Amino acid sequence: MENNEKQSITNLNIKQMIADFVGCDIQQLTVAPKLEMGDFSLPCFAMAKEKKVSPNLIAEDLKNNLMKKLPPFIKDIQTIGGYLNFYLNRNIVSQLIILNSFLPFQFSNIGQNKVVCIDYCSPNLAKYMHIGHVANLVIGESLRRIHEYLGYNVKRICYVGDYGTPFGKMVVAIKKWSDIEKIKTGGIDEIQNLYIKFAQNEVENESLIEEARNASKEIEDKKGQSYEIYKEIINIAIAECKRVVKLMDVEFDDWRGESTYSNAIENVLKELQEKNISHKENGAQIVNLEEYGLHIAVVQRSDGGSVYLTRDICAAEDRFKKYNFDKMLYVVASEQKLHFAQLFKILELMDKKYSKNLQHITYGLFSMKEGKISSRKGKQALFVDLLKEGEDSAYNFVKDKNFILENKESVVKKVARSSIAFSVLKVERNKDKVFDKEKTISFDGETAPYIQYTYARCCSLIRKYENLSLQNKTENKTENKAIQELLKLDNILKMSEYLKERTVENKLQEVYEKNFYLFKKIYQIDEAIVDAYKKNEPYILAREILDLCQEFNKFYNEFKIIDENNLNLTKQLMMIVESVKNKLEQTMPLVMIDTIIEM
Ligand code: ARG
Repeated sequence: MENNEKQSITNLNIKQMIADFVGCDIQQLTVAPKLEMGDFSLPCFAMAKEKKVSPNLIAEDLKNNLMKKLPPFIKDIQTIGGYLNFYLNRNIVSQLIILNSFLPFQFSNIGQNKVVCIDYCSPNLAKYMHIGHVANLVIGESLRRIHEYLGYNVKRICYVGDYGTPFGKMVVAIKKWSDIEKIKTGGIDEIQNLYIKFAQNEVENESLIEEARNASKEIEDKKGQSYEIYKEIINIAIAECKRVVKLMDVEFDDWRGESTYSNAIENVLKELQEKNISHKENGAQIVNLEEYGLHIAVVQRSDGGSVYLTRDICAAEDRFKKYNFDKMLYVVASEQKLHFAQLFKILELMDKKYSKNLQHITYGLFSMKEGKISSRKGKQALFVDLLKEGEDSAYNFVKDKNFILENKESVVKKVARSSIAFSVLKVERNKDKVFDKEKTISFDGETAPYIQYTYARCCSLIRKYENLSLQNKTENKTENKAIQELLKLDNILKMSEYLKERTVENKLQEVYEKNFYLFKKIYQIDEAIVDAYKKNEPYILAREILDLCQEFNKFYNEFKIIDENNLNLTKQLMMIVESVKNKLEQTMPLVMIDTIIEM
């Protein structure tokens, strides 16, 4: 009971309030599986075992004791089958939740400004970005936004693949069939076409391969015309990549790619040898990781060439030196599981303390519903084609609407990219996902437009209410003086006592009773952000946002919110609207849904 007094509205924790009241550990409480069973339950089986009596008896006993001193926020306690079920006082708790929702986000300092590096997107520059990069980009970006929201300092790293024989081939193709000026004007398409031409010709013309090998060597040595052409290719490819990710409203802080580490490799190889981690076998440098079930890792090829793995060792070292990160996430497809397991193990063997703080964030396949997209190039659907398709559908979707407050073009863009992103983010990371534009760009179902529409609905209600208040010269701010007064009561118990005494209109009581689930959703969304962060699973938050919207729309359909004949009630109901709007505004961007104020 004493602890309860210390609880303040700024960190409203309903479960903790009950635990304090019961005198049990918060972990012991569970969420009741059905609404009829109350809001929280305390299973009494462990206690029963300890005391060697029946769980029912324990539950009954506890109940009788607790009922004598019920705090205002609990309405009733019941026992059933060895459980103690707690029923919250919906009137009081709903009001506490609404009040709390207007206060600053209580978990904003989890990150304490510590640095997190997130390596995501990271395409190979020799190829167009395809739709696999979409899933990668939006998962990485969502995690970035969630971390930042929780007070982390995030470094966004796009570790581009700018190394290896493909670039030697491109250089040769340019020398043979084009020139720097032409690729400057022709851009990424010109480069890709030349690359394809090379592939078609190399089969018959072996000397081409020899030339490409020489060019690769020059690139590695950073000299000659080949290197100059290579630099131009990279500039163009990175500019294209920047353009494409910008279409999804994403930017990066660090664009340094694999080639950055060509000079650092030697030192790392030396360190691996000196620490007896690697050894030579058939000319190659290898690390035997069989005892960890991680096979043999090659860290240098037998021809002396460097490998992806070793460049990643260098990159990790460099990033730790540069950013002093607290943790680093690599958002990379599941196929590279072994690669990252080997990387982390080798860094651990090298005694790098940070190796414990590295995490491979995997994800399932992302594909188009068959026959729904025509790709410009080859079999694989391209990133930009998908976006184009999305925008076409979004355009059809909104074309008959007249937006007054937002421009149509920007609405189309927001609907398209949010729909695409959300179709990925609403599904568990490691499950496969399908983009089906008909289902995704729709107001019905679990879609971004459904959420955007709900948000716009809140905004429209608020606009209406503001006009009405203006006409009636009432306060238009929903956070009114009463809240300020209430907040002065600095603990929950005093506050609940106060709320208990306050008379609440019947209509409002009805809202609290009938729509208690809406209030719970408003309350739970903050925890969902934290949960999504802990598990690196944006879908946890995505689901909560969907639930919140559903509950809000139920409320909207059941109650007339703006009633000119009852401004007092309207004001109270508008607090709920404003609270939902605020929660949506805070959380939608975290799962990459753009807010639209009018739809
Ligand atoms: N460029 C690589 C690929 O497309 C992904 C790089 C991921 N990041 C890393 N540090 N290995 O497969």
